[in-house]
Amino acid sequence: NLGFQYEEDYLYCEDMRVCDLLNLKDVSSPVYVYSKKQIEANINKYKTAMKNSGRNIQLSYSVKANMNPSILELMRNHGLFLTLVSGHELRLALDLGQEPGKIVFNGNGKMNWEVDLACRSGVLLNVDSIFNMRQTIDVCKAGGYVANVLFRINPDINPNVHGYVSTGQEGSKFGISADELEEVLEMATTFEKIRVVGLHCHIGSTIREPEKFKQSTRVLVDLFNKLRSRFPDLYVLNLGGGLSIPYKSQISLPQKCKQVVQCEIDKNDDQEIARLYDNLLTSKLTLSTFLEAIKPLPRGKEIFLKLQEQVPSEDKNQTKLMQILQSFKQCLVPEPNDLLSSISDIIPPEAKVILEPGRSLVGNSAILLSRVLGTKLSKKKNFIVIDGAMTEVIRPCLYGAYHHVELAEPSRAAHLQNASDQSKLVWDVVGPVCESADFIGKDRLLFTPHEGCSIAVFDTGAYCSSMGSNYNMRVRPAELLVDGEKVKVIRRSETFEDMMKLYTNYYCFSQ
Ligand code: LLP
Repeated sequence: NLGFQYEEDYLYCEDMRVCDLLNLKDVSSPVYVYSKKQIEANINKYKTAMKNSGRNIQLSYSVKANMNPSILELMRNHGLFLTLVSGHELRLALDLGQEPGKIVFNGNGKMNWEVDLACRSGVLLNVDSIFNMRQTIDVCKAGGYVANVLFRINPDINPNVHGYVSTGQEGSKFGISADELEEVLEMATTFEKIRVVGLHCHIGSTIREPEKFKQSTRVLVDLFNKLRSRFPDLYVLNLGGGLSIPYKSQISLPQKCKQVVQCEIDKNDDQEIARLYDNLLTSKLTLSTFLEAIKPLPRGKEIFLKLQEQVPSEDKNQTKLMQILQSFKQCLVPEPNDLLSSISDIIPPEAKVILEPGRSLVGNSAILLSRVLGTKLSKKKNFIVIDGAMTEVIRPCLYGAYHHVELAEPSRAAHLQNASDQSKLVWDVVGPVCESADFIGKDRLLFTPHEGCSIAVFDTGAYCSSMGSNYNMRVRPAELLVDGEKVKVIRRSETFEDMMKLYTNYYCFSQ
C-alpha cells in the first residue's frame, strides 16, 4: 500500500492506521504523517516520463516545498539534484553530502555570503537580474572563483494560477526581462570567470495546463538556439517546476463523473468527444461550452445523461451538475507524462534539461493529523474546531487553497445516531488560532465528529510544514515517516523551551 486510503472508515497511511499513531510515545496532535512509498511513486512517475521522452532530463527537487532532511536524503538517494533558494538550504544540502554539481541555487535577492558560498562550492547558480550579475562578478573577483551560471528569463507568460504563485509574467519580481537581457549577457561576456552554462525559467506554481509549459519551453529553446554560438558552454535548459496536484481528487462525486466520462471515451473510442474533453481539461473550452458541444453528439448525449444521474433529480436547472463538473475538472491535473509529452519534441536533443518540481513530488505524500477539540452549531454556520491550524496549513488562508478534510476514524457521535450519508452536516473546519483567517476548510460535508476524533487534512506534504509558524506561541509539530508498518519520527515536536531559548533576557534561561 502506498499513500493514504480508507478501510472500513479508518484512514491508513500505507499499512498503519493513522489514528493509532497518536497513541505512540512522544507523538501528540497535530502531527504531519508522510508516506515514503508515495514519495517514491511520485519520483518514479517522473522517471518513467523522462525515459519515455527520449531526451536528456534531470530531476531536481525544489527544497522549499519541504526541507525535512530525511526527505532530502530520500531524494538524493534516488539521484535527484536539489534546487535551493537560500544559503541555509545550500548549507543543509552540502551537509547531507549532495554534490555541488547536483545543486541549483536560485533566488531574486541573494546576500553576498550566499553568493560566496554558492561560487566557492561550485553549484549551478541562477542569475536573476543585472545587479545579481554584478554581485556574482564581484564575489568571483574577490574569491578567485569561476561561477557556472544560468540566466533566469522572464518569458512573460500567464500561467493561469493564483497571482501569488505566478512568477513569469511581465511585472513579476523574478527573472531577467527582455529589456535587461542584453546588458546581463554583455557583462557575462566581458568577465571570463563567468561560465554561462544554461538558461532557466519558472512561470509559476499549481499549473494545470501543459500548454503553459510548452509556451515557456519555446521561449527558452529559441533563446538557447540564438545564444549557443556566443556562449559555447551553454548546454542546460532549466524549465522550472510548477505542476499542480489534484487537491480535489478525494471529493467523491466528481470522481464518479470522471470515471463516467473516461469510461465512455475508452469504451467508444469517440475521437470527437476525446478531443472536446481534452480541450476542457486544458481550459480551451469552458464547462458549459463542453456540455453544449457534447450534447448533440450521439455518444455525447449518453454521457450527459449519465452525468446527470450523478446529481439529485430535483436539481432541475442542473446548477448542481455544473458545480460538480467544475470541481471535477479540478480533480484532473496533468501528470509528468502529459507535461513531458507536450514539450519533448521542441527540446533540442543536445540540451540537458532540468525539471525542478516541488509540490508534485511531495504534496500528496502527507496529511496533517489532528484531533477534534469540539463542535459548534449555529443557524448560520457550523464549526468543527480542531487542534491543527493555519500555523501548520497556511495555504487555505493565504491563497484560498483547497485541502481535503476527512475524519480519520468512524465518528462515535455519528454511530450513536445510526448515521447514513444524509446525516452529514455542512461545516467550516477551523483551528484555535486567534484570527478569523484561521480556517482549514469551508462548507465541508462531514459527519458530526466526537470530541477527540482524529481528523486528516490531506495533501500537506508541500508548502505546509515548510511554511509553518509559531504564531500564538504554537509549537511546530512533529513529522512522522511511514514505510509499510514502520514509523520513524523524522522531526520531533518543538517545545516551549525550544521557542524561549532564543529570547536572551528570558529569566529562566539567562541564569
Ligand atoms: N523552481 C522555482 C524557481 C520556484 O520558484 C519554485 C516554486 C519551484 C521550482 C517549485 O515549484 P512547484 O513544483 O513546487 O510548484 N507556497 C506556494 C508555492 C510557492 C512556490 C514558489 N516557487 C504554495 O503553497 O502553493
